[in-house]
Amino acid sequence: MRALLTTGTPPTWTVTEIAPPAVAPDQVLVEVTTAGLNRADLLMREGAYVPSSADWNVGPDRVGFEMAGRVRAVGDRVTGIAPGQYVMAQTGGACAELVAVDHRLLLPVPDPQDLVAAAGLPSALLTEYDALTGAARFRPGDRVLITGGAGGVGHIGVQLARALGARTVIATTRSQDKAGLLRELGATRVIDTASEDIATALGPDAFDVCLDHLGGPVLAGLLGAAAPRARIVQIGRLAGTHAHLDLETLAARRIQLIGTTFRGRDTDELHALNARVREALPGLLRTHDVRPVVDSVLDLSEAERAGQLLDRPGLTGKVILRIVA
Ligand SMILES: NC(=O)c1ccc[n+]([C@@H]2O[C@H](COP(=O)([O-])OP(=O)(O)OC[C@H]3O[C@@H](n4cnc5c(N)ncnc54)[C@H](OP(=O)(O)O)[C@@H]3O)[C@@H](O)[C@H]2O)c1
Repeated sequence: MRALLTTGTPPTWTVTEIAPPAVAPDQVLVEVTTAGLNRADLLMREGAYVPSSADWNVGPDRVGFEMAGRVRAVGDRVTGIAPGQYVMAQTGGACAELVAVDHRLLLPVPDPQDLVAAAGLPSALLTEYDALTGAARFRPGDRVLITGGAGGVGHIGVQLARALGARTVIATTRSQDKAGLLRELGATRVIDTASEDIATALGPDAFDVCLDHLGGPVLAGLLGAAAPRARIVQIGRLAGTHAHLDLETLAARRIQLIGTTFRGRDTDELHALNARVREALPGLLRTHDVRPVVDSVLDLSEAERAGQLLDRPGLTGKVILRIVA
């Protein structure tokens, strides 16, 4: 089968012929139609990220964290899933014609006619649902702030916050061009951080929950806008891995700063999160139309160019690779 691998120096993505995966009793073999690319794919190519969660069951040279496709075969211990069914999942080495995935990590696709969109959903959905409802202990009526709101992950967070009953959803971007889309997705206010400082624009007591995808000085600036007992979930560090925090404000407002990552998560934790998302999914999709915004779609053979698109400033939403027609 064809699979995308990181090879050479400097490292590049190369389509390579490799052996198809064997299917263990708890696994399902999926013919991958489309795979979503993520920032972590770029970091892995640079050697700056090593996945260690139980849903990465292939070598570190494989590319891709999420995919959508059709079940080809099921392992002996799998029930309730049959060949021909359409599924999506966060799983290691997703940019390949076939993947073997533990059945407890599979999610039903929102629309079998749209496997392009489906491929861009699993990682963002799992990340943001876990951050919001797990780490941040979100409750309907909370006011939510999402930094990097137009990103591949953040734009799902904006929609989830709206769908789960946030009183206000504030999203940040450095580009005024993305403000319209963010409002369409459910943001009640958009802050253009190219011209506005978050704490100055919002004042104190503006959010109860923050999903922070940026870190660095952006994280430091969030404290001034936090409500007493606010929960800030630190998800990504695109603006920097270090922050100079005003600990007086942190303490005085009893703000909770919570880090999160998939790295190191074991099977039980991943299965439990997927089960929670599977249960919530019908409502989120049918009632609230939570959907990924697709920035661009390219063929597997154009993976290097897809990586460049993923790294460009104007990126809005997801970059998707077509694997098998
Ligand atoms: N912890 C986890 O479990 C987990 C899971 C998935 C992803 N992540 C991480 O979460 C972060 C977001 O992922 P993503 O896929 O949404 O990334 P993305 O699509 O590449 O970017 C998110 C947005 O952040 C803004 N941004 C980028 N660099 C910035 C900078 N230096 N300063 C301020 N804003 C900047 C951009 O928005 P504007 O151009 O609109 O400003 C961009 O669209 C990444 O670091 C990723 O690795 C973590």
